[in-house]
Amino acid sequence: MKILITGGAGFIGSAVVRQAIAAGHSVVNVDVLTYAACLENLASVVSSPLYAFEKADIGDGAAMARIFAAHQPDLVMHLAAESHVDRSIDGPKAFIETNVMGTFCLLEVARNYWQDRGRPENFRFHHISTDEVYGSLGDQGQFTESTPYAPTSPYSATKAASDHLVRAWYETYGLPVVITNCSNNYGPFHFPEKLIPVIILRALAGDDISIYGAGKNVRDWLYVEDHADALLTVLRRGKIGRTYNIGGENEVSNIEIARMICAILDKVRPGTRPYAEQIKFVKDRPGHDMRYAIDPARIRDELGWRPSVTLQQGLQKTVAWYLENENWWRALLDRTGVGERLGTVNTETASD
Ligand SMILES: NC(=O)c1ccc[n+]([C@@H]2O[C@H](COP(=O)([O-])OP(=O)(O)OC[C@H]3O[C@@H](n4cnc5c(N)ncnc54)[C@H](O)[C@@H]3O)[C@@H](O)[C@H]2O)c1
Repeated sequence: MKILITGGAGFIGSAVVRQAIAAGHSVVNVDVLTYAACLENLASVVSSPLYAFEKADIGDGAAMARIFAAHQPDLVMHLAAESHVDRSIDGPKAFIETNVMGTFCLLEVARNYWQDRGRPENFRFHHISTDEVYGSLGDQGQFTESTPYAPTSPYSATKAASDHLVRAWYETYGLPVVITNCSNNYGPFHFPEKLIPVIILRALAGDDISIYGAGKNVRDWLYVEDHADALLTVLRRGKIGRTYNIGGENEVSNIEIARMICAILDKVRPGTRPYAEQIKFVKDRPGHDMRYAIDPARIRDELGWRPSVTLQQGLQKTVAWYLENENWWRALLDRTGVGERLGTVNTETASD
């Protein structure tokens, strides 16, 4: 099978590319290479005859049509997106352009391609989305596939919009789609502006480990390789037109995750004092969702998928990876905005 994967130079996309090639699939990676991209994530597959790369913007219809015609993919996995909530607060326009307009453009190109080929039933347009589209939970309950959408950040609003477009292209045009909504990912190659790598790298640098608010926000963490495995499972066996929530069954607050990482570092790279002493609370992010939790019953019961590692095991692997791959993350620290506090815009004046 030949899979066209958008955003394959990003964190999750590159894990999907590596796993798809390991499983014997051909892959065409379409990525415009924004600040979040890193082709080094693909060093292990770049010389494989199964791998091809196209540098292009998903919002460029002519480029997308050319790429579909040249590579003739059987399936599409769409991961390209602007993905950082804090950046979406400072600059929502890029999120509208890529996540909404870019997805619209890709859907149209995919639909024309699928129609021109005689509407093959085994074609798929798999949209990779987030649990953030469901908004925030209180202390109880979990997101199911029928939880109403209630996004709160520019990032989650644009992902919700793109989910709606994908579903509409199924209902209206019959395009064979599947949608997955996943909880927070972590693991190797995670860009060093996201929470878990920030905690690891600040701890190692001896800097303050900044935690938003009181650190009580709860996330359901999933190891990235498990997410990639779940995505390939849904691609192969998910029912057309259906949504699957993907979660790790690992609910933990931000302060707990910081303490878990510090405890791992205390064992594997002991310093002069416990790393947890570097934890500092800072002003919260505006509109910070309190709790996300996924009910993974559908993907577990219908497709037999479960995560392979616990949070403790995944964090140990992740910390070990960052310790062994300093060249990878050090090169990314110079990119614009990395290491700065983003998303602190004054919301009272921002609406003016
Ligand atoms: N990171 C998470 O925890 C998480 C959880 C659930 C869902 N998701 C979703 O998974 C997908 C991948 O997330 P990620 O964390 O790997 O993101 P990422 O920011 O690491 O990577 C995104 C990739 O998309 C590329 N890209 C951005 N705009 C593009 C455009 N206009 N045209 C072509 N390529 C473009 C970037 O260059 C980058 O390589 C996103 O759709 C995201 O919403 C992420």
